[in-house]
Amino acid sequence: MQRRTFIKQTSILTALASTQTLASNNPSTQFPMVISTWKNEKANEAAWASLQKTGRALDAVEAGARIPEADPNDTSVGYGGFPDRDGNVTLDACIMDEKGNAGSVTFLQHIMHPISVARAVMEKTPHVMLSGEGALQFALSQGFKKENLLTDVAKKAWEEWKKTSKYEPKINIERHDTIGLLALGTKGEISGACTTSGLAFKMHGRVGDSPVIGAAVFCDDEVGGACATGLGEFVLKTLGSFLIVELMRNGKTPQQACEEAIMRIVKRYNYKEFQIGYLALNKKGEYGAYSIQSGFSYTITENGVTKVIESKYYMK
Ligand code: GLY
Repeated sequence: MQRRTFIKQTSILTALASTQTLASNNPSTQFPMVISTWKNEKANEAAWASLQKTGRALDAVEAGARIPEADPNDTSVGYGGFPDRDGNVTLDACIMDEKGNAGSVTFLQHIMHPISVARAVMEKTPHVMLSGEGALQFALSQGFKKENLLTDVAKKAWEEWKKTSKYEPKINIERHDTIGLLALGTKGEISGACTTSGLAFKMHGRVGDSPVIGAAVFCDDEVGGACATGLGEFVLKTLGSFLIVELMRNGKTPQQACEEAIMRIVKRYNYKEFQIGYLALNKKGEYGAYSIQSGFSYTITENGVTKVIESKYYMK
């Protein structure tokens, strides 16, 4: 055997052996993998398709987030999202990769894919977060198209809401399904993303947790990642995703870490009126989920198979 061929074959065998060792040391080691908040099969399938193409978790979470962003029937994300109390659709999103890079946009209007703008902020600017008019100008400079995101259905719902204009800073889980996604790429690296139109009929200018790194999403490639959905104010006040990753770093399982993060809210706030759901995924591919109320579900894709799972919850 020629020396070059021998070296090539040996390194392929070594690579295979180390993958197998990893798998046998951790029977649960499982990647690639995608997990997302709520019932989001199409988003997961897009993320999975992206993983088959590039293998990169970052591409996968972006591809997944773009599905509800473009769906006019999803009334809490992107196009079709319910507007604020003045009739403006304002969007928040963030993305984080395995190297600790992060990008986000807040209070962005007229752009269908805030997650891709957030990624551009991460990759093409020295900043982490762009907001409002500045975020829009940046998006346009990057070739994103300005569009009307207020659908007839959302406009009608807003007009109906205006009859009472009852300001309810609550989450109705049927109405508010911010999507958060976590993925492990083919190299086992972690990334996360989150995108939303925020709380329906919120005050003009209100920004929730979804664009805030550490609140809605946090990833650390030594540990894993976490993401959030629900009433953003309480995720912000407790920095839930960062907390969950730190709890996992200190030995908690993803399930235990999500439960602890929910308990931090339950102990301090009047939790009965709103919903928060957390998802966590560690580097072994172990995952967990927990919410305050019943009704929170999440979608997982592994080995190309997608399933929706009901989360455990606190309020019985
Ligand atoms: N979790 C999304 C929001 O509160 O806006």
